[in-house]
Amino acid sequence: MLRRLHHEQPASFAFTAENQAWAEAQMTKYPEGRQASAIIPLLWRAQEQEGWLTRPAIEYIADMLGMAYIRALEVATFYFMFQLQPTGSIAHIQICGTLSCMICGAEDLIAVCKEKINAHPFTLSADGKFTWEEVECLGSCTNAPMAQIGKDYYEDLTADKLRWLLDELAAGNVPVPGPQNGRYAAEPLSGLTSLTDHESGKQQYNASAQLAVDIGDTVKRIDGTEVPLLTPWLGKQGTAKATQKQIEENEPKPAEGKPVDETGVTVQEATVDGNGRPEADVQVEGTQPELLDAPRDGGADDLKKIAGIGPKAEEQLNGIGVYHYAQIASWSEDEATWINTRLNYKGRVERENWIGQAKDLAGN
Ligand code: FES
Repeated sequence: MLRRLHHEQPASFAFTAENQAWAEAQMTKYPEGRQASAIIPLLWRAQEQEGWLTRPAIEYIADMLGMAYIRALEVATFYFMFQLQPTGSIAHIQICGTLSCMICGAEDLIAVCKEKINAHPFTLSADGKFTWEEVECLGSCTNAPMAQIGKDYYEDLTADKLRWLLDELAAGNVPVPGPQNGRYAAEPLSGLTSLTDHESGKQQYNASAQLAVDIGDTVKRIDGTEVPLLTPWLGKQGTAKATQKQIEENEPKPAEGKPVDETGVTVQEATVDGNGRPEADVQVEGTQPELLDAPRDGGADDLKKIAGIGPKAEEQLNGIGVYHYAQIASWSEDEATWINTRLNYKGRVERENWIGQAKDLAGN
């Protein structure tokens, strides 16, 4: 398919303040000099904000990333997920036209799009509210035929159901995504014979549909205010807003005089903990338990006998000075918290009852 920029373009583009902060934060994920790696998320955020990718947006992002415009244009025109023409002010409807959906009625859905939106794909409806296109398999074949509308899937569609959906969306409503024929998820049409928990009524929607209901951004234009900006890689709290100062203060720096290694990857000088986290990001809580410089006489115990401790965890524990069942058996609650946070175990010590197991193994 020929993918060209639209013949009509707006005069300019700017991210909202929140999206700008988000975009700048994404750039800090990459080593200095490699900011171009952020191009796809930034183009995508521009499209989420505007509905489509304008030339000013592509050039704005190229400027942010220090790229030649042609390089950014190459990316934008290569990937079909980027819309290069205006999309409907409410939604761009993507009808799957691949095998399962085609067999189950995709042509009827496309006929509805032609009837209610425009005879031609990628062309605005008369009221400007919708555009449509046919896309390849979206991986929801068991619920064919289906359409992606905004960020969510509407499945088990019929022509009448799609007409209804378009009317609802045009009226400003957002129907619950997921199966539209009463199915809970992708179970057999004849009903479930197992995993029937949801039939108790406790879970009204399947997980995907529930998330869509909870988040509510199905056809929303994303302006960056939806969720707080989290940049855990920039600071200990994970909520720092990206600024050049923070980047300079917190980012690992390329080693001086050694800009790249033999593979071409920039050499980092940041030290990491046993889980690969920069040491600067480790937030330790609780009280440090007794740690040893080396195993006591007789050598280290086999900590792998404790269910939940594998070779990697044993190596990490040894690395900070834990070698013996008796050490683990003596941990208080506060000391267990120290181990959990120091080694990023997220509560494993209690959940897997390491202390109780260690007491048994130590013969206490
Ligand atoms: S064929 Fe339509 S989702 Fe796979």
